[in-house]
Amino acid sequence: MFRLGSLTNYQDDHRQVTPPVRGTFIGVFLAYCMAVLFHRTDDDACPFAKDAEGAVLAVRSAGWVPPTRGCYAPSTPATTNAPSPGFLKVLFSLLQIKWRFSSPHLHFQFQTPSFSLLLGVLIVGLFNACTSKPTPFPTPSPEGFVEMEIPSDNPLTYEGVTLGRALFFDPILSLDSTISCASCHNPALAFTDGRAISNGIAGRTGQRSAPSLLNIGYHYKGVFWDGRSPSLEEQALHPLNDSLEMGNHWEIIQERLLLHPDYSKLFRLAFPDASMNKATTAKALAQFQRTLISTDSKFDRVQRGETQFTPQEQRGWTIFFDAGYPDVPMAECSHCHTDPLFTNLNFANNGLNESLSLDDFPDEGLGRISGNKFDNGKFRVPTLRNILLTAPYMHDGRLESIEEVIQHYNEGGLYAENLDPNVRPLHLSDKDQQDLIAFLQTLTDSSALTNPMYYPAKK
Ligand code: HEC
Ligand code: HEC
Repeated sequence: MFRLGSLTNYQDDHRQVTPPVRGTFIGVFLAYCMAVLFHRTDDDACPFAKDAEGAVLAVRSAGWVPPTRGCYAPSTPATTNAPSPGFLKVLFSLLQIKWRFSSPHLHFQFQTPSFSLLLGVLIVGLFNACTSKPTPFPTPSPEGFVEMEIPSDNPLTYEGVTLGRALFFDPILSLDSTISCASCHNPALAFTDGRAISNGIAGRTGQRSAPSLLNIGYHYKGVFWDGRSPSLEEQALHPLNDSLEMGNHWEIIQERLLLHPDYSKLFRLAFPDASMNKATTAKALAQFQRTLISTDSKFDRVQRGETQFTPQEQRGWTIFFDAGYPDVPMAECSHCHTDPLFTNLNFANNGLNESLSLDDFPDEGLGRISGNKFDNGKFRVPTLRNILLTAPYMHDGRLESIEEVIQHYNEGGLYAENLDPNVRPLHLSDKDQQDLIAFLQTLTDSSALTNPMYYPAKK
């Protein structure tokens, strides 16, 4: 660097107003100040080309101002590390000032301070490009929801979400490149797959049904039907390795990602301080999943006073929330399917299996994880948001329709010692049941199902 600066020594000594080394330092300092001031201060500085959809990209939800800078989709990844236009403007104007100032001695002056200045600016530019920090992504905070717990070592960033989104929809993560996360978590079906039991690679089947991933960022009591995974970061690596799901091995995945034309750059942008590895892959997938929010159903709009239930929906609401007793029957649903998530995140036995002994469940559920016999047959209370889109129902998809589910609860569930007391014969009439279903219908959020950010980025 100093050698380069001294290239200017051939000029007349007395004209050398600023020694090259000092000039370089000043240049570095000035450029640094400018870079700090101007780096990503405007829309142009967004490292990604904007999705055509602009601001709707944002996760729509009440009480949470969506990101207006819509800085997602890496449709032109090749340009992502270019210095921001703001930065270039400053660089240019600095040189222009120097140029004008030194015009009588154009030849010499250009060689001295400006050259070192330029050098300094280039150094900072390079530094800036290599170390540019990912842009924070606003934490989803819909009205009425608890705050989303985000691990301090994996804050949401646009770049991380973008990478997670690319990975989520990419079948190269599975051994035979046929299955992506989205094969079983299809955004059009509220991130489920419409099957009782999911199909993995080569048509292999697991044992359980794929749950919806909308609002999954709020599942702070563990994910999976049995809560066995403490975080989305930990969870993400399971399907990749699971021989019944994506059946892959990390070494193969890493090699494919390294050979892929986009991923090296996407990883560098999302995690500039870490390499492409299992942890960063899991972090990116977790980040994307934390942006999957559903809070714009008719139920939510009624809550916000924007619209009203029909009389039938209103009656169903009253049955669901036990709000009209003794005139309207109680169905006890909201003890477990508590709003706004429509799950209290706890585990319960809702009476799917008759078992005279606690050792007698076909799938032990929580019990297998906790080792406590009393937890056998308990499963995580699933959300009821978008429930009419996610048939068949229950952890093993055994109930095909919502009518069957209501009938199950109406009959009071099957006996087991740990059957939850809130599951009891309800004596709902046909009309009560239909009203309840009409209410459940209001939990469908079509804006979440059509949010372009929940689908693969357009190339
Ligand atoms: C072959 C189908 C399949 C694939 C592929 C798949 N999943 Fe799943 N996913 C499931 C099933 C089935 C479950 C429930 C398993 C259980 O609870 O034991 C599940 C559960 C989850 C959960 C927990 C949800 C909850 O409510 O607790 C998350 C999160 C998740 N998957 C994310 C992913 C991600 C990320 C990928 C891609 C890396 C992925 N899945 C790939 C079928 C699949
Ligand atoms: C004691 C708590 C509890 C009560 C009360 C309860 N549920 Fe559930 N619900 C659960 C659990 C736990 C599951 C998952 C069980 C499983 O798959 O093994 C579930 C599953 C469901 C499902 C299937 C969800 C899916 O994604 O597959 C629906 C629908 C449902 N409940 C609706 C209702 C309705 C309607 C009521 C009121 C009539 C109700 N529940 C009352 C705990 C409860």
